[in-house]
Amino acid sequence: MGFPTHRMRRLRLNNTIRDMVRETSLSVNDFIYPLFVQPGAGKKDEIVSMPGNYRFSIDELVKEVEDLKRLGVPAVMLFGIPEQKDERGSEGIAENGIIQRAVREIKNSVPEIVVITDVCFCEYTSHGHCGCVLDQQVDNDATLEWLGKMAISHAKAGADVVAPSDMMDGRIGAIRQSLDEQGFHNTPILSYAAKFASAFYGPFRDAADSAPQFGDRRSYQMDPANGDEAIREVALDIEEGADIVMVKPALPYLDIIRRVKDKFQLPTAAYNVSGEFAMVKAAGKMGWIDETRVMMEWLLSIKRAGADLILSYFAKDAARLLS
Ligand code: PBG
Repeated sequence: MGFPTHRMRRLRLNNTIRDMVRETSLSVNDFIYPLFVQPGAGKKDEIVSMPGNYRFSIDELVKEVEDLKRLGVPAVMLFGIPEQKDERGSEGIAENGIIQRAVREIKNSVPEIVVITDVCFCEYTSHGHCGCVLDQQVDNDATLEWLGKMAISHAKAGADVVAPSDMMDGRIGAIRQSLDEQGFHNTPILSYAAKFASAFYGPFRDAADSAPQFGDRRSYQMDPANGDEAIREVALDIEEGADIVMVKPALPYLDIIRRVKDKFQLPTAAYNVSGEFAMVKAAGKMGWIDETRVMMEWLLSIKRAGADLILSYFAKDAARLLS
């Protein structure tokens, strides 16, 4: 009769049947919420390019984490904005640095929440690069030593997971060794394994005031054109001891997320970064898109691509919708 035997629309007839055959779903357990912490008290300053996200002083941060706990968000990723930046990013490894204090306070007040710390120097250095600068270059091996110290100081403060985002070669091995030497064998490493030199980090750099003061990050972060190289980066980090691997940013790199998940079958995270968030917010504000629906479609696509965990500034809004 020339009539199609297969009618794909049969299983799209109504909501119930669509729910039954849906392949991917989001859960609040998928999310990690990024938070910025700054010195002072009673401070909650909105980040202009990231509406609904703030630079919190520690007291306000604890309240935010309590809120997240109530919503069922299992984990946060902390970024520190120090009192003082210097050449060596000293506050990044200080026992009473902003992050170290914030971790202690959170673990005191909301012990159940998993606290992940960003291990990188760009938030703490006056030049804004992710490590030790010698002759206008980021020196790889000197930075490894710094990173080990930072990871230890975070673990000592009580961080549950450390997350290096610097893209130096050999950092996962160096950090693993440093942690183990200090008895932190049980502190997992979430590696920003395939981190691209992306234009989507702009709003974050405003928030953390961490734009490089000279040059850019292309001598350490990856070329957006490279997929095979991303697989090599991830393979190396796994060999060196990464427990969770992350692809960053998310939406322009869904192909990489899928390849990483298929190839390694490790817990895989994706970072839905500041610029991705800002685009949706801006277009939503203009009335050009339905912000909520775009957000959920965007997050779902990251999960469908293979991410087990999604680091996203949308986490709080999504958790509210899912509950
Ligand atoms: C630190 C770091 C950056 C981000 C996370 N960790 C900035 C950068 O590499 O410049 C960006 C996250 C975002 O844009 O949301 N190296």
